[in-house]
Amino acid sequence: MLECEFFSKKIKNPILLASGILGMTKASLETACDNGCGGVIAKSLTLEPRKGHEGPNIIETECGILNAMGYPNPGIEFGLTEFGGWKRKEALVISIVGKDAKEFGLLAKKVEDSKKELGATAIEAVISCPHTPGYGTMAGQGTPESIIEITNAIKDKSKLPLIIKLSPSIPGEGKAAKAAEDAGADGINMGNSLGPGMKIDLARKKPILGFGVGGLTGPAIKPIIVRGVYDIYKSVNIPIIATGGITNGSDAIEMIMAGASWVSVGSAVYYRGPKVFGDIAKEMETWMKENKYKKHAELVGVAHDVRDHKSDIY
Ligand SMILES: Cc1cc2nc3c(=O)[nH]c(=O)nc-3n(C[C@H](O)[C@H](O)[C@H](O)COP(=O)(O)O)c2cc1C
Repeated sequence: MLECEFFSKKIKNPILLASGILGMTKASLETACDNGCGGVIAKSLTLEPRKGHEGPNIIETECGILNAMGYPNPGIEFGLTEFGGWKRKEALVISIVGKDAKEFGLLAKKVEDSKKELGATAIEAVISCPHTPGYGTMAGQGTPESIIEITNAIKDKSKLPLIIKLSPSIPGEGKAAKAAEDAGADGINMGNSLGPGMKIDLARKKPILGFGVGGLTGPAIKPIIVRGVYDIYKSVNIPIIATGGITNGSDAIEMIMAGASWVSVGSAVYYRGPKVFGDIAKEMETWMKENKYKKHAELVGVAHDVRDHKSDIY
């Protein structure tokens, strides 16, 4: 009942591994697949290798997880070799992150050039990290103008379907998504971590994270993501991945009702372990049987009376 298409690929369910979670090596992506996801979004890759921020870079709070990783990654060359040769039935999405449109274009060209050996289904461009200087919201990449420039630069260099990963921290997600769609994006991911936020160590009287601030993920951000997906669904015709706070089958169904075609799961791996993907799939199926739905596609956007394409409420 959960089988669906993810761009050109048929996948067993609409549950994906979110970027940056378990996703540094091909083996860890395969672990997520073995545990029941329909596809994986690999760790974001930059042009050059990056060490990321000084630790501690991840801390649990009373209502979610704060992280300030700062994009530690081996760089695009090594990353594409590591993730390459993907032959599994689950979809692989390559995540790229650049400082500006030019860098995004260079990254897209590298993915395009190794497309055959790679076996990836799509590219995701991340413009939404709230805690890495030079990238994402700290570089002002969330404006419609910047989104158009970045989308054009990538579409110019690669024919793979392009997903733009937006921030829930910047108002106007509907307009941002529409700018991406008009510039040729094939899908939207709503969204990334929220913030930045901070946690202070009372004994040391200092912020705990090495970078001082970090992005909030997990259940606390779910209502904001639901609203973002709802606004984006009204604003565009391209499909949406919902990301943020999805921990169980009901959360996934709620996102789909708001307008998502797929969901991606991150922090719930910390809360429920790697089996979470298969467990969410089973929980979705149970809900659908109880409520007499044969395919989850019937539920996409049902929370809307009409899809009126008016600008977002917020
Ligand atoms: C430790 C950690 C690392 C992350 N790294 C990335 C990354 O490299 N690229 C990216 O697009 N998102 C990254 N994210 C954000 C997640 O992909 C996801 O958008 C966010 O965690 C919200 O989903 P969740 O509430 O299910 O965790 C990271 C999140 C965490 C917690």
